[in-house]
Amino acid sequence: MTGMLKDDALKGKTIIVTGGGTGLGKSMGRYFLELGANLVIASRKMNILEEVAKELSDQTGGEVLPVSCDIRKYDEVENVIKQTEAQFGKIDGVLNNAAGNFISPTERLSNRAFDIVVDIVLRGTYNFTLANGKNWIDKKQSGVFLNIVTTYAWTGSGYVVPSACAKAGVLALTRSLAAEWAKYNIRSNAIAPGPFPTEGAWKRLFPGEVAKKIDPLNRIPLKRFGEHQELANLAAYLMSDYSAYVNGEVVTIDGGEWVNGAGEFNSLEAVPPEMWDTIEKMRSKKK
Ligand code: HXC
Ligand code: NAP
Repeated sequence: MTGMLKDDALKGKTIIVTGGGTGLGKSMGRYFLELGANLVIASRKMNILEEVAKELSDQTGGEVLPVSCDIRKYDEVENVIKQTEAQFGKIDGVLNNAAGNFISPTERLSNRAFDIVVDIVLRGTYNFTLANGKNWIDKKQSGVFLNIVTTYAWTGSGYVVPSACAKAGVLALTRSLAAEWAKYNIRSNAIAPGPFPTEGAWKRLFPGEVAKKIDPLNRIPLKRFGEHQELANLAAYLMSDYSAYVNGEVVTIDGGEWVNGAGEFNSLEAVPPEMWDTIEKMRSKKK
């Protein structure tokens, strides 16, 4: 649960974190600062960004630039790039972390509700990727894109269908550009977290009585949620030069949750030892 990388692993690097004012984005940003990076946090709520920029900077001694940006709007994304370069000179990494999500039976969604999630997650990510990819290519600079998806990007999931569609698109974007833009020294990777408690996710995914009906812990073989520092360690590694040969990868960090759900017979975990004894006796009787 402690920091994993050498103290100066991101020294001198400038990293933009979308949605960096809350939850996992804030935790990853804090660790980037501890490792010597300059940090830019971008999202819609400037009051939160300003407060968090001060908090993180006081905690770590690092420099944090808050920039208001709705990532669905290309001109606002371009403005983040411009402001970052004005303040820090260049950009070394972009962590596409901002997202929107909520649970709902799909047939209850309005078309606007579907749009809103896909626009934040997929359009927001490709806006940042396109704008900053062009920027890096024009300036002949190397860089790293790190995209936060989730495990249902490849399995799909009911009740979060707009998010599943959008995260699948982000995963396709990650792998496609890992191949196409490697020639420009631009790496693209993704992280697929399982449940990591944050206020933003919990209030939208386990609201009210739902939290009593389903316990996400039951699905996780390691029987615990992820710690923010565990995710931050992985993100910092993938942002750093230590992962210079990792490109096009999606790393799952979910305590074994999705493979547990996928394996046909994993539910036999519910069979107690005495029942296995009986089954064994039946088998040896037959022999
Ligand atoms: C059905 C809903 C809804 C809900 C909103 N809508 N919430 N429909 N169920 N719970 C509909 C509205 O009725 C409206 O459609 C449309 O969506 C837009 O809603 P607004 O409230 O006007 O949108 P806005 O204020 O822009 O907020 C966007 C948001 C909000 C996505 C709805 O939740 C948000 O700001 N989220 C950002 C943070 C976030 O979601 N974090 C969680 C990420 S967790 P109509 O037709 O009525 O106008 C995550 C975890 C993944 O991704 C995996 C976990 C294991
Ligand atoms: P969170 O705290 O709600 O973070 C979402 C962030 O996105 C907020 O800071 C929000 O800031 C920003 N955002 C939303 N719409 C935006 C827009 N249009 N433009 C710019 N920024 C916008 O949730 P979280 O749990 O930390 O999630 C972070 C990432 O991890 C997401 O990609 C999520 O899908 C992923 N993830 C989380 C979990 C988990 O268990 N927590 C699991 C798997 C994957 P503003 O409101 O200020 O715009």
